[in-house]
Amino acid sequence: MAKSDVQSLAAEELSRREWMGRATITIGGVIGLTLAIPAAAALIPDVDPGRPVWTGLDDTAWKQLQAATDTPVQIDIQMHSKDAYLTAGFPQSVWGIKVKDPEKFMRDRSDLFAADGKDTLPYPVVNIGFALFSPICPHLGCYYEWKPFLNRFACPCHGSQFDHSGARVAGPTTRGLDPLPLRERSGIAQCQWIRYSPTIPNRIVVSYIG
Ligand code: FES
Repeated sequence: MAKSDVQSLAAEELSRREWMGRATITIGGVIGLTLAIPAAAALIPDVDPGRPVWTGLDDTAWKQLQAATDTPVQIDIQMHSKDAYLTAGFPQSVWGIKVKDPEKFMRDRSDLFAADGKDTLPYPVVNIGFALFSPICPHLGCYYEWKPFLNRFACPCHGSQFDHSGARVAGPTTRGLDPLPLRERSGIAQCQWIRYSPTIPNRIVVSYIG
């Protein structure tokens, strides 16, 4: 074979390899993107967290809250929520305690107050003499109960326990019970529903809906 033919064959082989190399990189890139896009999308919350909405306590709920003396009470409230399009109602049973000694409460729940006594959450935790707690365990989201014989709140799922003020006492939870906003307007007690992220020590709002 002539030298020029050999050179031309070598050049052809080189360009074929080059083409195959580029095709492999392109196909790999397409596959990578196909996998990466859904993975990235999964990290972006696609659910509307809604907006905070005040819900008035009806007579029954208000009487339930007032019945809290030394023992926490469960209060049935038809919470209101609002997303981009709809206002909806959903039932919840939040826990209420009477805060007889606000200074003791601040000591017991030091996770909720700064050194100067200001609330670390963007709302007062104690208002009109009471504090409300979300009924959802901050560990992994089960519903806990008040256990009179323990004088504690206890979660049936993994054994987290909280004292009367909602402070963590035992179990895997990394924080105390989550307080909910409570206020009084025109003689009516009102509260808000907030769902916080489970597991982590900080309170990050996940949703104001359900
Ligand atoms: S969900 Fe309550 S302890 Fe795990």
